[in-house]
Amino acid sequence: MENAIILAAGAGKRMHSDKPKVLMEVLGKPMLSWVTEACENAGIENICVVKGYGADEIDSYLNGKYETAFQSQRLGTGHAVICAGDFLRKNPKSHTLVACGDSPFIDFKTIRAALEFHKLSGSAATVITADSPNPFGYGRIVRKGGELSGIVEERDCTPKERKIREINSGCYWFDTEKLLEFLPMLTRENAQGEYYLTDTVALMSSKGLKVTAFKTDNSDAVLGANDRKGLLRLNDIARRRIIEQHLENGVEFITTDGITISPDVRIGEGTKILPSTILTGRTVIGKDCVIGPNSRLENTIVGDESTLDNVVAHDATVGSHVSIGPFVQLRAGTVIKDYAHVGDFVEIKNSVIGEGTAVAHLTYVGDSDVGKNVNFGCGVVTVNYDGTNKARCTIGDNAFIGCNTNLIAPVTIGDCAYTAAGSTVNKNVPDGALAIERSKLEIKEGYSERKLSRHIEKGKKLEEKLSESEN
Ligand code: UD1
Ligand code: CA
Repeated sequence: MENAIILAAGAGKRMHSDKPKVLMEVLGKPMLSWVTEACENAGIENICVVKGYGADEIDSYLNGKYETAFQSQRLGTGHAVICAGDFLRKNPKSHTLVACGDSPFIDFKTIRAALEFHKLSGSAATVITADSPNPFGYGRIVRKGGELSGIVEERDCTPKERKIREINSGCYWFDTEKLLEFLPMLTRENAQGEYYLTDTVALMSSKGLKVTAFKTDNSDAVLGANDRKGLLRLNDIARRRIIEQHLENGVEFITTDGITISPDVRIGEGTKILPSTILTGRTVIGKDCVIGPNSRLENTIVGDESTLDNVVAHDATVGSHVSIGPFVQLRAGTVIKDYAHVGDFVEIKNSVIGEGTAVAHLTYVGDSDVGKNVNFGCGVVTVNYDGTNKARCTIGDNAFIGCNTNLIAPVTIGDCAYTAAGSTVNKNVPDGALAIERSKLEIKEGYSERKLSRHIEKGKKLEEKLSESEN
C-alpha cells in the first residue's frame, strides 16, 4: 500500500491573497483537489495533507476526507515532510509519493508510470522531471555521467546550472524507510535558509543509494503556480485542454470565447456550447442540447435536446426537450421535467415543474410542486415567505394560473383549476374550479378630459409632427 504526502502548508505570499495558495482555483476547482484526485486515481490509499498557513480553511475544505499533518512554521519542503513523520512511520515498508499542492496537472498516469520505474530500478528516490523551455523558478536536475546526482534551486544555481532545462516537478517517489532515514540529515545551508526536500536526493546519492529521474513527456504535469500570473497560465492551459477533450467527444463550439468548463463537467455529443458560458462543479449535460450564450451552470444536470439561453442555474435538474430562457435563474432544488418551457425573466427556486408545463414570462416560483401541462400567465408570484416562515404551493395537472396571480402559500390549486388574472389566492381551489378575486370595476365617463388634458395635448402635438414628416 502506497502513501502520498501532499505539501500544502505554504502561504503563497506571491499570490497576495489571504487564502492558502493550494485552495486557489484552476477552472473553479482548488489546486489541492486536482492533486488529491490524481493520487486517488493512481490508486494511492493513504493520503496525508501537510497544512500550515490557513490550516482551518484547509480542514474545513477537506472535511475529514484525508489525514492531515500540521507544520507550525514554514521552514521548507523538507521540514514539511518531517512534520508528516508520524504518518510515514505507520506504514514504513512502502513507497511514498511526495507531491506539491500547488502543481495541479500532475496526472495519475505519470504517478503510476513513475512508481513502476521507481520499483523496477530499485531506487531510494525517483524524481519526476520534465524538459521545459522556460525553467525559471524551478529546481534544476543535475546529472553526472547521465545519472541524477542532485537538484539545485533557482536561487542556489551557478550560471551554468541555471541553463539546465530539465526541471524538478516537485513530485517524487521515495522508499519510505530511506526517506525517514535521510530527512534528519537536512540542513538549512542554502540561499533561502530552508530545509529543502530536494537535498535528500544528493544526500542519498552521496551515500551510494540509487536515485533516478523519471522524465515525463507531459511537460504541463510539472507546472506550478506561485503567483497570479502563474495561476492564470494554468487556467489558460487547462481551459484549452478541456475544450479539446470535449471537441474530441463531439461537443460543438462556434468559438471558445468566454467559455470555461471545469474538469468534472460531462457533456454529451452533439451539444453546442455558445460563447460566455461557464460550466462548473458536477454539471452534466446530455446530447444535442444548446447551452448559452451567457449561461452559468453549477452542479446542474440537463437531459437531452434541451436549450438553455442566458440561464444561471445551480444545483438544479433539467429534463429533456426543455427550453429555458432567455434571462432565467434556477436556484437550488429546482427540477424542471421533460418538455417544460421556462421563458424570460423567470426565477425558480426549490420547486418541481412538471412535464410540459409553461412558465413563460416574468414569474417567480418558489417552494412549489407544479404538475404537468400547467400554464402560468405572465407575472405570477408564489408568495412563499411571510417574513417568518416559508411554505409550499401545490398546483395540480392541467391547471391554468392567470396573469398576475398571487398564490399565498401554503395553498393548493387543484387539477384543471383556473385562477382569474389579477387574483390573490389564499384558499385551496378544488379540481376544475375557478378562483376569482376582484373588486367591481367602475367606469367614470369623461374623467380623462379633466385629469389628462396635458397628456392628451402632447399626443396631439406628436400627431402633427408625424403628419408633417409624412408630407
Ligand atoms: C519546489 C521545489 C522545486 C520544484 C518546484 C516545483 C524545493 C526546495 N523546491 O520549489 O525544486 O521545481 O517545487 O513546483 O522543494 N510547502 C510547505 N511547507 C513549507 C514550504 C512549502 O508545505 O515549509 C509547500 C507549499 O505550500 C507548496 C509546495 O510545498 O505547495 C512547494 O513549495 P514552494 O515554496 O512553492 O516551492 P518552490 O519554490 O515552487
Ligand atoms: Ca511552487
